[in-house]
Amino acid sequence: MQTPQQKSIIGQFVSNLLRIKNPDEFLEQSQKGGLKKTLSAFDLIILGISAIIGAGIFVMIGSAVIGTTERVGAGPALVLSIFLVAIACIFPALCYAEFASMIPVSGSAYIYTFATMGEFAAWMMGWVLMLEYAIGTIAVASSWTGYLIKLLEGFPMLPEALRNPPEWLINDYQSAMEANIQLPHILGIPICLNLPAMIIITIISLILLKGIQESANFAKIMVFVKVTVIALFIGVGAFYVKPENWVPFAPSGIKGILMGAFAIFYAYIGFDAISTAAEETKNPQKNLPIGLIGSLVICSIIYCLVTIVLTGMIPMSAIDLKAPIAHAMSFVGQDWFAGAIAIGALAGLTSVLLVLQFGTTRILYAMARDGFLPSIMRKIHPKFNTPWVITVLSTILMLIGSLFINMQVAAELAIFGTFSSFIIVCIGILILRKTQPERHRPFKVPCCPWFPLIGVVFCSGLMIVALREVQTASKLFPLWLLIGIVIYFIYGYKSNRKQEALKLQTVNVEETAKIEEKV
Ligand code: ALA
Repeated sequence: MQTPQQKSIIGQFVSNLLRIKNPDEFLEQSQKGGLKKTLSAFDLIILGISAIIGAGIFVMIGSAVIGTTERVGAGPALVLSIFLVAIACIFPALCYAEFASMIPVSGSAYIYTFATMGEFAAWMMGWVLMLEYAIGTIAVASSWTGYLIKLLEGFPMLPEALRNPPEWLINDYQSAMEANIQLPHILGIPICLNLPAMIIITIISLILLKGIQESANFAKIMVFVKVTVIALFIGVGAFYVKPENWVPFAPSGIKGILMGAFAIFYAYIGFDAISTAAEETKNPQKNLPIGLIGSLVICSIIYCLVTIVLTGMIPMSAIDLKAPIAHAMSFVGQDWFAGAIAIGALAGLTSVLLVLQFGTTRILYAMARDGFLPSIMRKIHPKFNTPWVITVLSTILMLIGSLFINMQVAAELAIFGTFSSFIIVCIGILILRKTQPERHRPFKVPCCPWFPLIGVVFCSGLMIVALREVQTASKLFPLWLLIGIVIYFIYGYKSNRKQEALKLQTVNVEETAKIEEKV
């Protein structure tokens, strides 16, 4: 039997875990925050396309078509997988749009969870979003190395060390172990680092430190380059399509289509990053839904066209896993064009990095503001108006991560993280419609509750199928969740209580001052 005192301690503990933060508090906080409001709807669509078109279409498409040792591929039926994923994304996108227009503050799904499901769920959401953004960054940076090597190979005048760098300088430990690469040792420690990936992560962080408007301008150039290259691939590749390559259409049947959808889902990761920029958006009520849905639709059309052309140009067995699009052009004898694709891919991957690293810093910033992370992380740079401490620290952590995790596993982890956040955002909309029906919603998900429910069913269905198939990532995902729970109870829970006590003290002091004034 529990004593009334024990009961009240447990009750207090549970109510702390479920403490909901009113959306108005976030809005008030963000108004004090000091981030500049500079982004338009066009900037957001660019930000969306920046985030979406990258390693997914330039690299993951290969494994989505032919499969890996852990999962089967879809074959030419990947085009159906893309439809499936586009549907799985459109419903969460609508939910993101409703939330982001209602609570236009930086922090994305993390904020929405805090406003609907409480403190513990919010922390876990922030933690899971780090899979999508920070671990996703590692996947994209590894792909960046792959395309850089592909590009350098095409320049015979370059020194041999650049055209054919030592394997220990372009791989992470996991890949080096799998490929049995001989590593040099310093003081008995084997040395292996993905140097190009580490350099590009650092450069992007420096750009982000300087400011969001500068980053948006840089993103526009990158988006232009990658979209031009993809358009050329579709236009030129279409002439080499042989319909017999589309047979068999779905060599691994439904399972292949589902696993293809899981893999190509990586290509869609990032459109939600638009909502992380809500606080820096002009007229967010109108611009956020346009940015979210617009970039999703544009990218889905592009993916379908690329898939149709790629699988028509080259037999499935000849598709390359590392640089499938560039290799397809070499396959049909267009070597010069393969080089151009490598340049476009590098631009694409760079812009994705920009958005993912931007998202990482803004989510962590929002979490620091709520007391989940030490207060030093809230510091805004006096000149650039950017959260500089978080930017530096997250970069260091991503650099360390890039030493150990390989591209496929990082991408799969990012996919699990994204599925989780989409599911929770859809559920969050249903909860907030019940708990705060009167709240002003500049944009509303149509056909509620059905659209959010369809989003939950699609995303959880794909996630469950994938969890049963992929081996490594499905073990690391629960481990990541467990680490998040431990960190929350060791630091976040206590820090939130201290913050609450501090707030209470401030309120008391203010009230006493008011009473004294009256007296
Ligand atoms: N969607 C992003 C990409 O494909 C993560 O690189």
